[in-house]
Amino acid sequence: MAVMTPNAQDWARYENRIASASDVELAEIEQELFGRKNGVLTLALKELSSLDGDARSAKAKELNIQKKTLAEAITTKKSDLLSSTDGAFDVTMSLPEAERGHLHLIPEFIREVEEVFGRMGFDVFRSAEIEDEEYNFDLLNFPKDHAARDAQDVFFIKSDAPADNKLLLRAHTSPGQIRYMQSNKPPFRAIFPGKVFRKDADATHSPMFHQFEGLMIGKDISLANMKGVMITAIKELISHDAEFRCRTGYFPFTEPSMEMDMRWQGDDDSSREGKWMEIVGCGMTHPNVLRNCGINPDEWQGFAFGFGVERMIMIKHQIPDLRSLFQGDRRFLKQF
Ligand code: DAH
Repeated sequence: MAVMTPNAQDWARYENRIASASDVELAEIEQELFGRKNGVLTLALKELSSLDGDARSAKAKELNIQKKTLAEAITTKKSDLLSSTDGAFDVTMSLPEAERGHLHLIPEFIREVEEVFGRMGFDVFRSAEIEDEEYNFDLLNFPKDHAARDAQDVFFIKSDAPADNKLLLRAHTSPGQIRYMQSNKPPFRAIFPGKVFRKDADATHSPMFHQFEGLMIGKDISLANMKGVMITAIKELISHDAEFRCRTGYFPFTEPSMEMDMRWQGDDDSSREGKWMEIVGCGMTHPNVLRNCGINPDEWQGFAFGFGVERMIMIKHQIPDLRSLFQGDRRFLKQF
């Protein structure tokens, strides 16, 4: 096959293209000229064998000059591109850090809770956010006239449910204990993390917040076990320097009941009620609650606790207002 050997004008055009090429274009031109199979120069040099005598040596001379000129032009252009600012590749340049998303503080903390209690042999059990009065109150030994049932505090749901067992957004994770005890045989230990709802809103209260409940039932589980489990977990989750204060308390579903406070580690603030913040209610599971779940209280005993997740996070990260956790402001969230 005869190949049209480029003439002087064609070579000049190549030189112009090289002069204005980007690094990608330059690589293409190099291939077009010098490619081992179809390079224009490669083919033109091969064509020489079809010429003879003087014509052949004259053509060979011309092609070799072109080859040298174009190869040099390409080399020069390559180093120009490397040293010019827009083509330079500076290995010492520090690039802006690529942004990476991460879990919000609340699910992140709950995962840690599951991990820490998991290591202590606790199951994780989740149950519905919509409950009825029976599970949110009655089976937990709340008397019918208990103040916690007040419509001022609880979000009741309009439904066809009977007037004495209305549907509601659960006000605590404690109904999870009942559901778990009804479907498992002791001994057991489990935690119950999730969202809960109350008509409350200020710097340390939000109408939706998170709790994790814990329950441990066995033959001889005591308050000492409870304290050991809770303090081990809190130190692991918040800080080994955490300071606690236990007070007597009252909950219908535990007897005796206690409340535990943690010392606020940030700046003093009037919303903190001094330096202490209540983070957990706890106690020995009331015999009536065990009975309500078909467990014999003469045979089994144990403890339960209910932690406020947001409050623990506030203490851990020294966040003065719990509402910042729910505002979705990326400037706040990116700090953690
Ligand atoms: N349910 C209680 C609340 O929301 C917290 C609580 C107290 C849970 C004592 C428990 C407990 O399991 O034993 O205020």
